[in-house]
Amino acid sequence: MSTIDKTKDIYYIGVDDTDIDLFESQYVVPNGIAYNSYLIMDDKTALMDTVDIRGQEQWEKNLNEALSGRKLDYLIVSHLEPDHAGSIMTVLNKFPQAKVVANAKTFAMFPQFFGIDIDDRKIEVKEGDTLSLGGHTLQFFMAPMVHWPEVMVTYEQTDKVLFSADGFGKFGALSNDEDWACEARRYYFNICGKYGAPVSALLKKADALDIQVICPLHGPILSDNLDYYIGLYKTWSSYTPENEGVLVAYASIHGNTAKAAQKLGEILTAKGAKKVVVSDLAREDMAEVIEDAFRYDKMVVAAASYDGGVFPCMESFLAHLKSKAYQKRTVAVVENGSWAPSAARTMKGFLEAMKDVKIVEPTVTIKSVMKEGDVAQLEALADALLA
Ligand code: FEO
Repeated sequence: MSTIDKTKDIYYIGVDDTDIDLFESQYVVPNGIAYNSYLIMDDKTALMDTVDIRGQEQWEKNLNEALSGRKLDYLIVSHLEPDHAGSIMTVLNKFPQAKVVANAKTFAMFPQFFGIDIDDRKIEVKEGDTLSLGGHTLQFFMAPMVHWPEVMVTYEQTDKVLFSADGFGKFGALSNDEDWACEARRYYFNICGKYGAPVSALLKKADALDIQVICPLHGPILSDNLDYYIGLYKTWSSYTPENEGVLVAYASIHGNTAKAAQKLGEILTAKGAKKVVVSDLAREDMAEVIEDAFRYDKMVVAAASYDGGVFPCMESFLAHLKSKAYQKRTVAVVENGSWAPSAARTMKGFLEAMKDVKIVEPTVTIKSVMKEGDVAQLEALADALLA
């Protein structure tokens, strides 16, 4: 077992989960997910988080191998969500002398998950506190709501490593070598999207540190070109569009609204839109469409009317965007209805409740099937959106 890049004494002991059907019971992860965990071997030994119980068996083997017969002195808990804390009891039982290092919020929540009192084993830390392991010193920074209230990150001062909790994580097992940004962006907006302000606050703290390596709890260890990753996180957490482009998200029952959405996509491309993505909300991964909504500066929502409102997958999409604090974007609306169109009114109800979302007119209403006059309206809408 070798140490991680640019460090000495720090070992990766995490595991890949390539069998999971849905991460957090909601996100498809075609390339799996990694539960990361790290061990620092110094005068004192320190374990940086555990793993989901699904990966416990392999992780225990990794831990034993890295410890090479030594005992564990500290377990640092940065996040109590079960994908990281799921194997804590194993550590507590196996290493009765090990102390648990965490903050007050973590210790307050601890009995909820584990039903035990660890008062005699806890070391409570607060913002800026340090813990010496010998050659390595750990410094703790609170990161509330990046992704849960008890989250903290740890900066290792000797090798300049930031253990960033869920921050800078991505979907995808480490055995799968793939582009970072695509699955990191889908992960970020769906899991941390609501918490832009806390993420920005954490990035400000990180700006004051000399960081050479980022060790997240999911996804690859980052040790090169850190400005790129930190720059993307600054863009995402400030809700600034990453790229110019238009997402056309549609909800169609029998295919007529789909035809209008695809036609609008062609019109937008012909009129010079830098990028156009047309997505079927009934069939595509909702998390992927949410990612695109945040990625681009403009969006069109096109949907059939349904039960006096809007077709359910569009309602679900807009509810998701609202809960993820979708904002600072320009949006256009297309509806379809055969007798009493209600989709536009319903969609605008969601959009008008969002911060800094500009709705451009004309709103296009198609009656059942797109006709020539509708195409003219779609042309006008495209002109207004791209103006
Ligand atoms: Fe990866 Fe919020 O747990």
